[in-house]
Amino acid sequence: MIPKEGMSEDEIFAELEKRLRSDLTFNSGKILGSMCTYPHPLAQKVIQRYIDRNLGDPGLHKGSKEIEEEAVQMIGELLHLKRAWGNIVSGGTEANILAVRAFRNLSGVEEPELILPRSAHFSFLKAKDLLKVKLVWAELNDDYSVNVKDVEAKITDNTIGIVGIAGTTGLGVVDDIPSLSDIAVDYGIPLHVDAAFGGFVIPFAKALGYDLPDFDFKLKGVQSVTIDPHKMGMAPIPAGGIIFREKKYMDAINVLAPYLAGGEIFQATITGTRPGANAIAVWALLKHLGFEGYKEVVGEAMENAKWFAEQIKALNGVYLIREPMLNIVSFGSKELKKIEKDLKKRGWGISAHRGYIRIVMMPHVKREHLKSFLNDLVEILKKL
Ligand SMILES: Cc1ncc(COP(=O)(O)O)c(C=O)c1O
Repeated sequence: MIPKEGMSEDEIFAELEKRLRSDLTFNSGKILGSMCTYPHPLAQKVIQRYIDRNLGDPGLHKGSKEIEEEAVQMIGELLHLKRAWGNIVSGGTEANILAVRAFRNLSGVEEPELILPRSAHFSFLKAKDLLKVKLVWAELNDDYSVNVKDVEAKITDNTIGIVGIAGTTGLGVVDDIPSLSDIAVDYGIPLHVDAAFGGFVIPFAKALGYDLPDFDFKLKGVQSVTIDPHKMGMAPIPAGGIIFREKKYMDAINVLAPYLAGGEIFQATITGTRPGANAIAVWALLKHLGFEGYKEVVGEAMENAKWFAEQIKALNGVYLIREPMLNIVSFGSKELKKIEKDLKKRGWGISAHRGYIRIVMMPHVKREHLKSFLNDLVEILKKL
């Protein structure tokens, strides 16, 4: 109930401190199974200062709109696109929905079908519901990447698009996007790449010498990319990214927004009123960290993944699901449920899904946290 007399700020914070004690925090190093992280300090300052900016009404906040466009452009250039179209949105879910919406609206197909890997994120289930697009699942290879032949075999006259994943949610697998792109070009079907996680990893890992496939607009078939600043981009939640190769995709999803104080505009995003501060924070981080700054962050995360995978391989009672391609390491065990329960009891923020526990080497995950996790894991395995 709303109290009759308001509480003081001190009382509010005292209560919040007490009530939120049950939250796990990123700074504690205990959250190992999330794709989010503690936001960069600069981004926090930016958010605080520009908290009132609304990108849903860009006529009022013209400067913010320009900054969002520049952030989109910078991300587009990172993905080898000279002129980028898109938005900083609420997350990978919205970005994926926008891509499917654009493909569907442009296709003119009455019973639209989207081909996507079995490893795709559940946001596409929401896209299916919202947009009435049938999902056609493509099978995976033994290495958990999508089977490109199966994708091709499933193309019909109703196919409005193909999805490839650059950094799957469970295992961090990067699909063979070059082959998917070839198919997309051959059949004249747009390819969407869900790089919600991998988008802020792969360009930097490649620069560090990691052997990873091309996944972006360098490939002709790629028409749109989801890439989330609030994952490895270290931006505060919410900050997702949708980047389109051409303006026609934005035109296909733009709706007229009248009645705004800043004047009539077109909106492509699902959200109307949306935080300008978060888009400004993305711009600030890209400018502040630069390519070299992100490369350093990604370098540490990739090193941690390599190291952790070796530690898992050396243990009895657990096994690596596959060699990590990115900074995600997943392991299985015959006793997975028991291990999960005990790890959770010890305060670790991990979960077992689909037969494995996923450890995501986010920027807040340091070697000392991984060592402490492994100590617990060894103790648990000994007891089994
Ligand atoms: C590959 C992929 N796509 C999309 C999403 C959805 O992102 P969000 O939770 O920001 O909506 C995720 C989230 O984990 C993801 O891993």
